[in-house]
Amino acid sequence: MMRKRIFAMLTVLAVLLSLAPAALASTAEVTAVTGTASAKGFGGDVTVSITLVDGEIAYVEMEGSGETAGIGGNIINEWPKAFVDANGIVDTYTGATFAQITRAGVLEAAKAALSNAGVNPEDFIRQAGAEAAEDVAVEADVVIVGAGGAGMTAAIVAADAGKSVVILESQPAVGGNSVKSTGGMNAAKTVYQDKNEFGESAGVEKTLAAAEAYADNGFITALANIVKSQWAAWQASPEGYFDSIQLFALDTMIGGKGINDPELVKILSSDSANAINWLESVGIELNNVAAFGGASVKRIHRPVDENGKVVSVGAYIVPRLEAALKERENITMYLDTTATDILSDETGAAVGVKAVGKTGNTVTVKAKAVILATGGFGANLDMVAEYKPGLKGFMTTNASGIQGQGILMAQALGAATVDMEQIQIHPTVQADTASLITEGLRGDGAVLINADGQRFIDEVGTRDVVSAAEIAQPGSFSWLVVDQKMVDASSVIQGYIKRGLMLSGDTYEALAEALNIPADAFSATMEKWNGYVAGKNDPDFGRTSFASPLDTAPYYAVKVTAGIHHTMGGLKIDAETHVLNADGQIIPGLFAAGEVTGGVHGANRLGGNAVADIIIFGRIAGEQAAMYAE
Ligand code: FUM
Repeated sequence: MMRKRIFAMLTVLAVLLSLAPAALASTAEVTAVTGTASAKGFGGDVTVSITLVDGEIAYVEMEGSGETAGIGGNIINEWPKAFVDANGIVDTYTGATFAQITRAGVLEAAKAALSNAGVNPEDFIRQAGAEAAEDVAVEADVVIVGAGGAGMTAAIVAADAGKSVVILESQPAVGGNSVKSTGGMNAAKTVYQDKNEFGESAGVEKTLAAAEAYADNGFITALANIVKSQWAAWQASPEGYFDSIQLFALDTMIGGKGINDPELVKILSSDSANAINWLESVGIELNNVAAFGGASVKRIHRPVDENGKVVSVGAYIVPRLEAALKERENITMYLDTTATDILSDETGAAVGVKAVGKTGNTVTVKAKAVILATGGFGANLDMVAEYKPGLKGFMTTNASGIQGQGILMAQALGAATVDMEQIQIHPTVQADTASLITEGLRGDGAVLINADGQRFIDEVGTRDVVSAAEIAQPGSFSWLVVDQKMVDASSVIQGYIKRGLMLSGDTYEALAEALNIPADAFSATMEKWNGYVAGKNDPDFGRTSFASPLDTAPYYAVKVTAGIHHTMGGLKIDAETHVLNADGQIIPGLFAAGEVTGGVHGANRLGGNAVADIIIFGRIAGEQAAMYAE
């Protein structure tokens, strides 16, 4: 539970509060008054209690059991002391972060608590860090721009190779887009796949059939031939769970419509199990394996909580990577510091980064190697519309710092880009809040229902296909439906319910009424679907991934629509993460990893491949930059 209290003037208060548990206590010497209020946070209500002693804030308690540990939970943990120290409401999270909802809820509750204590909250607003910071000039072996998953991974690896590392992050907190990731990480041939007992692999046949459409793509054809013989051998003598690095590569290539860079896909697929092991070495265990869109077999690896319930991968990984950074003395991080230029020498090699801090101060880092890990440009709606005008007006699931800065800075140094027009829309974005509703729900058994109460697509197809089908439905939205059994198994779904994103009904008819869709049609669709699950056959849309029937009341649904999710295009890199120029030559000293790069995902990224990308290529960038800095 996220709960934090800060005591000040402890002795006086202990007496006062025991004397007067009610709101007001008064003696000849001191007056104490407590105000309490709640407001909506990220995962339910947040509650703030503030006690004023002689008009000064002396005691603050915050509670928010639904706030995410390591993210919004940091506010609940850290702000009580900050409020007491500042004798006021001090917003140290100015700027846009994933913790915004918690932040807004706590600020609202704190102001109301002060009002309830009988004072004017406006008299207690304090400015955080208002004093101008000084200009900074530092040197390091490696400077990394961006403290999302790729940047933090690269930093840990470079630091462990003995290098001094500086990270510059434009936002007030680490995490970037990674912290918003809910799904998991694709990896093939891991111990966790074998530990689970899955049974069906009907998706392999479907993928081999799909590969036939790419007969002119030599890499896809070669992969398909290898998978065909692996699959035949496994069927003749099944051992463990069927998957292979070639099948992972084949899924990724078909998902990407064949335009991915084969060299990068080979690395993604063959290094994935190692990356799972590396994560374990920094305390991150992804041991729950499930189905996701476009994967022939169950391959996405997810974290679970102490009760075995699936939790969001980003909220799980990011605080642990951050803790690993903080354990390493050779890493220095500057938050709220936006890189503006890559410094280069007379040969064109990257030799550092210039940035600007929150108060306009400059931060200059001279370094032997530069790693760009700034993410894509999915929150820069002008840039999205420039490369794909059809997406003008779409919502985005991206963190607000994802503005394409790394791409623009590298272009100024002559870097080439690939596939910039390949921008992914995700079909299950909550229609009012733009919150991403993870594809994991569909992999775990959820169905999509249109306004007529009908299914309309294989829900576990690739995102481009599912999004296009959804856009073609009446109103261009759908309802994602789960049952109580699914809710019980997933903290993620419980979080959606707590946040008020889902409607529910005790019967199919009651849920249909809540959704305002035809009850008869909806009930018939659900009964039919449950029959398909029992027979493991979907004659309507050819879905091959079945979990359990959706037959345990109550039933829940969230309204979803398509939103901008991932920019597949970006800087052109080679297999060692060097950034290349238009002639295909390495720009010395410049490396890039994660969504800032292009080529890994082709025309459409598979769910679970972004986390694989940031960890796998983040590690390579860290290793290569460290070697270059030698
Ligand atoms: O739907 C999701 O959970 C998204 C995952 C991803 O983009 O990899």
